[in-house]
Amino acid sequence: MVLNKLSLTNFRNYASVQLHLSSKLNLVYGCNAQGKTNFLESIYVLCLGRSFRSTRSQEIVKSGEESFLIEGEFVLDNGIAKTVVVNYIRDRRKEISVDHKKVRGHSEIFGTFPVVLMAPDEFRITSGGPAERRRFLDILLSQVSMSYLINLQEYSRTLKQRNRLLQSITHGKHVLESVIDPWTEKLVKSGSMLIQKRIAFIQEFSQILMDIYRNFSETEDRLEIALQSQVEHTNGDDLEAQFLAQLRSVKEKEKVLGTTLAGPHRDEVQFSINGMDLRKFGSRGEHKSVLISLKMAEFQYIRQRRNETPVLLLDDCYSELDEFREEQVFRMLPDLGQIVLTTPKGDSGIAERSLQNIFPGYSRFHVERGQIACQN
Ligand SMILES: Nc1ncnc2c1ncn2[C@@H]1O[C@H](COP(=O)(O)OP(=O)(O)OP(=O)(O)O)[C@@H](O)[C@H]1O
Ligand SMILES: [Mg+2]
Repeated sequence: MVLNKLSLTNFRNYASVQLHLSSKLNLVYGCNAQGKTNFLESIYVLCLGRSFRSTRSQEIVKSGEESFLIEGEFVLDNGIAKTVVVNYIRDRRKEISVDHKKVRGHSEIFGTFPVVLMAPDEFRITSGGPAERRRFLDILLSQVSMSYLINLQEYSRTLKQRNRLLQSITHGKHVLESVIDPWTEKLVKSGSMLIQKRIAFIQEFSQILMDIYRNFSETEDRLEIALQSQVEHTNGDDLEAQFLAQLRSVKEKEKVLGTTLAGPHRDEVQFSINGMDLRKFGSRGEHKSVLISLKMAEFQYIRQRRNETPVLLLDDCYSELDEFREEQVFRMLPDLGQIVLTTPKGDSGIAERSLQNIFPGYSRFHVERGQIACQN
């Protein structure tokens, strides 16, 4: 898939933008705080209907304005063109339309216009808490499976509801078991499906990840990814029964603490290199290599599963890298599809010299105070 045309109105610090993008590499450069990440964010919102930075659409609206509009023209891998519009007006629900037809919610198109983002904040995936890794898993799986996304939404709603009931017990209210039980059943249904899909994903993804890591780091090191779920899932066991039994065993504790103590919302994803937990023992360089491999594997996995090439957004992440890794990243880029890359460097950095060799004649965009202009 390629995003050919993009127009923005009152998106972050951009009042009005209209431009054509290259189907290969687009380099966006400019000083700090000029709008480079905002630009990538607009493409991300166009693709997925939501931001990677804030959950509140109002924050995305240019300050002093009432609404934002993003419009993009995609050409899918099968050659079909699609126009996507994301429109938000203050105090209303965000509206998304594809080819002038309104979609009911962003879940309806999630993954149709796949995107992979690599940004400095993404380093939290390998070094942050378990919620960061679950988020990575959820966004990836939601892009390849609509039923995963629907179950995830269902699970989150049910969990909130169930926790509310448990909290009222904690605060001394009497709540009948018959009131909690239906929520427990719903939780078990959607939760088991999430765990099942996560297990299947990890099995398939781990080989892709391991191969990419070996190739990238030029070592024989084994990078492994594993799912640690509180709900034990020995082969052949009925997952729903296991989950229910787990919840029953912590029932009294849940009433004291006012929260659900078992389920996929407490899953952990562990990365290890040669059996050593990356979070505990990994060097900074290893974290970087794992993150890059992870993003490349995500790209490959989504492309395979959806039969659609994602747009790759790279936000200034290679400035975190040393020269060796920077070269390694650039070496991989030609096999990917459309890339939008930001850099705070001018036109003399190593980044541009290497890029010129790989993508002669790539598109360059200069960003300054919310204005973006093509330099070719
Ligand atoms: N809703 C908004 N309305 C107007 N301006 C905004 C809004 N949200 C963010 N900004 C401004 O956008 C600028 C930041 O843009 P962005 O994060 O894209 O910078 P950048 O070019 O990526 O910088 P860096 O190189 O430091 O990462 C800030 O000056 C910020 O105040
Ligand atoms: Mg930035």
